[in-house]
Parts: sequence; structure tokens; C-alpha cells
Amino acid sequence: MLNNIVLIGFMGSGKTTLGRWMMENVQMEFVDTDEYIEQQGRKIKEIFACEGEEYFRRLETKVLEELVLKAHNTVVSVGGGVPLKEQNRKLMREIGAVVYLRTRQENLLKRLEGDTARPLLAGGDLKEKIHNLMEARQDLYYRAADFVVDTDGKTPPQVYNDIEDRVLSGGEAKEK
Ligand code: S3P
Repeated sequence: MLNNIVLIGFMGSGKTTLGRWMMENVQMEFVDTDEYIEQQGRKIKEIFACEGEEYFRRLETKVLEELVLKAHNTVVSVGGGVPLKEQNRKLMREIGAVVYLRTRQENLLKRLEGDTARPLLAGGDLKEKIHNLMEARQDLYYRAADFVVDTDGKTPPQVYNDIEDRVLSGGEAKEK
């Protein structure tokens, strides 16, 4: 039985916050792909600026390849762009149950206002950026996911309860 959970979703959907909450409260290991990459010494922003997005995307895939081999009882939160590559979608499935944390755009906007760490959101109109990226990504998030869980207006323990009900108890997959 798979004992790992992979959290996917748009930037600001609360993947990292939930992953950390689970590490602290439900005795799971926690890996965040962005943090894992940054532990090699450079911020995501710097990697994008110096090496370009493609290079960063290759690093993300490498992290997933490592996790396929070593993740155990682990919640993995992945960057919002990870599900875009088919190879990554396959690797995530190998790691564990993939849960899409779905969040309404107005809430993403609230959470992402003032953010300076995410290169894809820099400059221009944030609302429009979120909208365009979501248009391009939403289908791929659904395609990648085994389960979809809504996060709007919920605290980490509430989102976790939904995951527990649906995923950990072997509940039904993909209710859109
Ligand atoms: C990205 C999301 C970010 C980070 C990078 C690119 C994306 O992670 O990986 O800035 O393409 O959506 P979060 O989803 O954790 O913000």
C-alpha cells in the first residue's frame, strides 16, 4: 500500500503549510520540492534568473526521481508547475496518492498579494496572471490528481480531515 501523499495545486493553495502541519501533527515526514531545491544553496528566484525556468524544471524532476526511491510515510508538497510535465505526473503517482488542493482564484489572489518570491508572478497584473496560469494549468492538475480537495475557507486540520476521509480511508477518487 502507498503510504505517501503528494500535494499539488496552484501557488498559494497552501500545499507547504498543510505539509508542515501534517509533519507536526500526524507523524509524517515532510518534503517540499522548492525547499529541497533551495537547500542546494540558491533561492528559486535566483535559479530562474541565472539558469532559466527549464533548468529549474529539470531540478524538480530530479527531486521526484529521488523521492520515488526514498519517500516513506511522507507528505510531499510540490511546486505549482510540477504537474505540467507528463513525466512528473507519472513520477508523482509512483510516489503516492496525488491530492489536488483546489482553491478559488479570489482566495489565491488574497494569499499571493505582495509575494516577491515567485518569479512567475513578478510584474504586471496579479489577478490576470493567476487567471491565465490557471487557465493553462487547471486541466493538468485534474489529470495529475487521484483526489481533489477544496481548501477555500478551511484551516489545515480541516483540509487534512477531508484528505483523511477520502484518501487515507481508501475513499472515492476524483470528485470534481
Ligand atoms: C511555481 C510555483 C512555486 C515555485 C516556482 C514556480 C509554478 O512553488 O516552484 O516559483 O510554476 O507554479 P509554489 O507552488 O510552492 O508556490
